Amino acid sequence: MKRSELVVVANRLPVDHVGEGDGPDAWRRSPGGLVTALEQVMAGRDAAWVGWPGKADLMMEPFEFDGNTLVPVRLSSDNLEQYYEGFSNGTIWPLYHDVIAAPIYRRSWWDAYVRVNRRFAETAATVAAEGAFVWVQDYQLQLVPKMLRELRPDLTIGYFHHIPFPAYGLFAQLPWRSEVIEGLLGADVLGFQRPADAGNFQRSVRRLFKYPTKANRIDVPDGEGGTRRVLAAPFPISIDAEAFVELAERPDIIARAAEIREQLGNPRKILLGVDRLDYTKGIRHRLKAFGEMLVDGTAEVGDVTLVQIASPSRPGVEAYQDLRDEIELTVGRINGDYDTMHHTAIRYLHQGFPRDEMVALYLAADVMLITALRDGMNLVAKEYVAVRTDQRGVLVLSEFAGAADELGSALLINPHDIGGMKAAIKKAIDMTPAEQGRRMRSMRRKVLHNDVERWGQGFMAAVDEIRAAKGAN
Ligand code: F6P
Repeated sequence: MKRSELVVVANRLPVDHVGEGDGPDAWRRSPGGLVTALEQVMAGRDAAWVGWPGKADLMMEPFEFDGNTLVPVRLSSDNLEQYYEGFSNGTIWPLYHDVIAAPIYRRSWWDAYVRVNRRFAETAATVAAEGAFVWVQDYQLQLVPKMLRELRPDLTIGYFHHIPFPAYGLFAQLPWRSEVIEGLLGADVLGFQRPADAGNFQRSVRRLFKYPTKANRIDVPDGEGGTRRVLAAPFPISIDAEAFVELAERPDIIARAAEIREQLGNPRKILLGVDRLDYTKGIRHRLKAFGEMLVDGTAEVGDVTLVQIASPSRPGVEAYQDLRDEIELTVGRINGDYDTMHHTAIRYLHQGFPRDEMVALYLAADVMLITALRDGMNLVAKEYVAVRTDQRGVLVLSEFAGAADELGSALLINPHDIGGMKAAIKKAIDMTPAEQGRRMRSMRRKVLHNDVERWGQGFMAAVDEIRAAKGAN
């Protein structure tokens, strides 16, 4: 097999299967933030991507796509049930998001997680060239760094954690907490979204292993009487801001934004929510606040419309099925009580949309609502800010989303405080154009400067530093 200097290892390949058969023509680049972020790092390099092709039991040879090698990892439907829906999204996801839903600790899921992580590590080990850099992505693959180091000590290994890392008091619930920390410490550089996440990780290392940590550096025993230096630091992820600006300036997209307003019956104000249908996003809290505003008359149908895009996600996991039922019941009730023949209170769409349509929606929206109860970063917040080249629009942003660290000029809210959220939405609806402009200009400076290219460069600079230090030893 061809070997590469840079290998990304992620749960999913960066492509979606759209055509007939399994040939390269049947695949299209996935639209997600992770793919866009890494696309920049991989472009023009001898790079491979190891991941699951998105369908159960699909057995495929590596193939070339857009100048990179994609290396599929086969997952059976049992693997998917136990490793993906089970341990990744039924145990780790709720635990790391502050137990908003109850994590389920099941030994058979853990066993599957270990087996599948080993399969990813073994595949990466066969694809990486001598001394290559392997970049492991996210919570589904926390054991891969250690497994890979054991198989290939010559490699430099990075890991980026896209979701929050919980406080030790929560993390300590995990029956396999030590194994997970050991797995992660197999990396040379560990990246987190917020300083708080990196701090929580370091505290877990100190509590469980008593390894000394100082200024993002952890000295881990190397098994030969010495120590190996690991960097665990924040690298807040971002978007390709320029690409969003270009879309926002396209006449057809601007025209589409005007058309959306018209199709909604030209309400004075449009509120927008864009989320995966996930219990971490605070969609229920948002609906509660908006519903109460309709009851108490702070918002009126025809004057204000809420557009809620909830893209389908993890339909095999019970907590997601329950959430969907609850949200659809609530939306149905609110619309039943308040809709008129001409206007709707909530336009709810359980669908995903292409990027062009998303940008048109952002441009049409006077107020963007991000009410996550816990979120690693939330790139929708950054996308909304990037496209508002008109310096208009108001971002209502949960302080529990990573984006709040950079976007302090948003209207920051605690989504558990429904009264506070209602007051912020009212303030957003009434905000003067001058104040919108002042806040938006300050946020746009941050997003345009800290774009995804900078994120990739920051992480790679840390990797180069560690590599140089290793070479010097
Ligand atoms: O936010 C974490 C994340 O893994 C993203 O990287 C991804 O886009 C999203 O969740 C969806 O996850 P899944 O692969 O489970 O659909």
